[in-house]
Amino acid sequence: MSRPIRIAPSILAADFSRLGEEVAALDQAGADWIHCDVMDGHFVPNISFGPEVIRAIRPRTNLLFDVHLMIAPVDPYLEAFAKAGADLISIHAEAGPHAHRTLQAIKALGKQTGLVLNPGTPVSVIEPLIGDLDLVLLMSVNPGFGGQSFIGATLEKIAQVRALIGDRPIALEVDGGVTAANAGDCARAGADTLVAGSAVFKGGALADNIAAIRRAAEAARGDWV
Ligand code: DX5
Ligand code: ZN
Repeated sequence: MSRPIRIAPSILAADFSRLGEEVAALDQAGADWIHCDVMDGHFVPNISFGPEVIRAIRPRTNLLFDVHLMIAPVDPYLEAFAKAGADLISIHAEAGPHAHRTLQAIKALGKQTGLVLNPGTPVSVIEPLIGDLDLVLLMSVNPGFGGQSFIGATLEKIAQVRALIGDRPIALEVDGGVTAANAGDCARAGADTLVAGSAVFKGGALADNIAAIRRAAEAARGDWV
């Protein structure tokens, strides 16, 4: 099965005073997905934005909205994010005791499902849920902020998840501290979808930064393609 490399810029690193324009610019610059980092100041020590911001930027692109919910509890807010325009909704395995029920609720809303693992959470957590997933997201930083350094131990987890996924149509996304310098390592280990905030928005043209990450990943990806 061929698995194209996807680049999913995180709008957490965008200019919030021009978020609509920034999303449109990402579309023009060759982004594959738009990664929307939702933070509640409770599950993570930072607050970002909610469903109304997702609704506001929705008309600016047709790209898939990859909504990363760093919130707890999750269930009360799923419908609002689904109606606001989320296409794929990812929840943290650590956000509550009922991940299976939450994933069922996301599917019932007609959206794709993702499960996110923090750096300290073992891959085995995915096993009972693998049949309900469209995406696995591995955090390569502790969630809450952009601009952090990539946690190298994530590479082994990527390889473990790649083996677990096998030939299932499940995307393997990595999020946090991803740059053109480590994108090749991530792809070689088995990641097919790369989130990048600072590496896309901080310095240089968006299109050049996205292309540099993509080029590095495509040049290195392993034999899992
Ligand atoms: C962190 C977020 C990441 C982050 C990525 O909690 O989930 O998506 O914004 O930003 P960089 O690429 O700058 O680490
Ligand atoms: Zn994220």
